[in-house]
Amino acid sequence: MKQKAVIPADGSWVEKNIREFSGSPAARIGDGWTLITAGNVNIDTSNWNTMTASWGGLGVLWGKDVSFIFIRPQRYTFEFVNANPLYTVAFFDKSWKKALGIAGAKSGRDIDKAAETGLTPIVFKDGTIGFKEATDVISCRRLYDHDFDPAKFLDKDLRDTIYPDKDYHRMYVGEITTLWVKS
Ligand SMILES: Cc1cc2nc3c(=O)[nH]c(=O)nc-3n(C[C@H](O)[C@H](O)[C@H](O)COP(=O)(O)O)c2cc1C
Repeated sequence: MKQKAVIPADGSWVEKNIREFSGSPAARIGDGWTLITAGNVNIDTSNWNTMTASWGGLGVLWGKDVSFIFIRPQRYTFEFVNANPLYTVAFFDKSWKKALGIAGAKSGRDIDKAAETGLTPIVFKDGTIGFKEATDVISCRRLYDHDFDPAKFLDKDLRDTIYPDKDYHRMYVGEITTLWVKS
């Protein structure tokens, strides 16, 4: 599906340190939901995909500020995150929850997510992709990827409940390189 082209982020975005991130990460990810986006708009301005995620984390590892994201292998976004060194996690206020519901129910293989959600894809100066309507966006550089191992779950009921189709998430640890905040 041809995606809507990405436009450059305008001057309303300010670069900040992740330590200035506003609010509880658990609340903002788990309750507010996020969009995970990756692509390479140098290849083509429609070379990107996004999906809704409400599982993930922000923290510290290996002496770096990091994000943790979890993507099942059948997601179209999985291909884009694996193909690119950077991804973003975008946060929204609750007026965009319906749009995030669409981005989390349909695949970019089948629809133009920007057109169907009303979200406007933008490219930041580091080449990452966010959305004009977001409140803040973090750019992350992939450091480590790991597919969950079914043998390693200590709680087998949890494993079997979450993964009846054995589509174990891939975990990505990404160094947070920039926090973009809309002024
Ligand atoms: C609230 C919500 C949270 C979600 N969180 C995740 C997640 O953390 N990881 C994941 O793989 N899928 C998650 N999904 C499912 C994907 O967003 C969904 O399958 C989406 O259609 C994938 O789109 P894509 O094929 O264009 O990548 C979530 C969906 C919703 C509605």
